Amino acid sequence: MRLAITGNPGVGKHTTAKFVAKKIQGSRIIDINKFAIDKNAILRKDTKYGIDVDVKRLRKMINDELRTITSDIAIIGHLAPYVLRPSDVRHVIVLRRSPYELVKTLEQRKYSLEKIRENVASEILGVSLYDALKTFGKNKIVELDTTGKRPNYIADEIILSMQKEIVSQIGIVDWLSLVYTKGDLHNFLEY
Ligand SMILES: Nc1ncnc2c1ncn2[C@@H]1O[C@H](COP(=O)(O)OP(=O)(O)OP(=O)(O)O)[C@@H](O)[C@H]1O
Ligand SMILES: [Mg+2]
Repeated sequence: MRLAITGNPGVGKHTTAKFVAKKIQGSRIIDINKFAIDKNAILRKDTKYGIDVDVKRLRKMINDELRTITSDIAIIGHLAPYVLRPSDVRHVIVLRRSPYELVKTLEQRKYSLEKIRENVASEILGVSLYDALKTFGKNKIVELDTTGKRPNYIADEIILSMQKEIVSQIGIVDWLSLVYTKGDLHNFLEY
């Protein structure tokens, strides 16, 4: 397994990855944010937006690290499209989550209103999928909707998609139409 799990902050990447790792014996998780901090590949700490990583350095460090790893591995983080090379991974999962659920999660995290709006808008517009497509191309990407599903179930879906070699499952959600239909477009996308 050479798996990347990406998606907007709060969609459930880490929660899901833990279940995947538990189900694949002997597998390891690399948390990109944690790796960046541990290896000091940080340009600055931004109090408002968290860490600002040194993408170029981190890219090389992760690539070097991956060369030394022979076990199954899941690489997790929204920075995956910026720090991984297409040849680093075989499968890329982009997790998606309804903006209505995402907003609650980000509120629970006590993110600022500005940061919540930015992240939710990014999820509605599908920025994480777009970023992943640019880096990895559509053939490696499976997009999964986590809304209302248990992490254990999502982990099974991920493993099944790898086993069946399901590729190019994209365009499965349309949050923009959803929020438009519900009359919430301005709530989510206007300042
Ligand atoms: N399938 C799910 N259903 C309900 N709640 C979930 C689900 N997956 C994760 N959560 C909850 O949502 C929150 C965010 O999950 P998690 O930390 O895994 O997101 P993340 O994508 O890793 O975020 P980040 O990019 O900021 O690290 C957590 O409180 C977690 O318990
Ligand atoms: Mg996380």
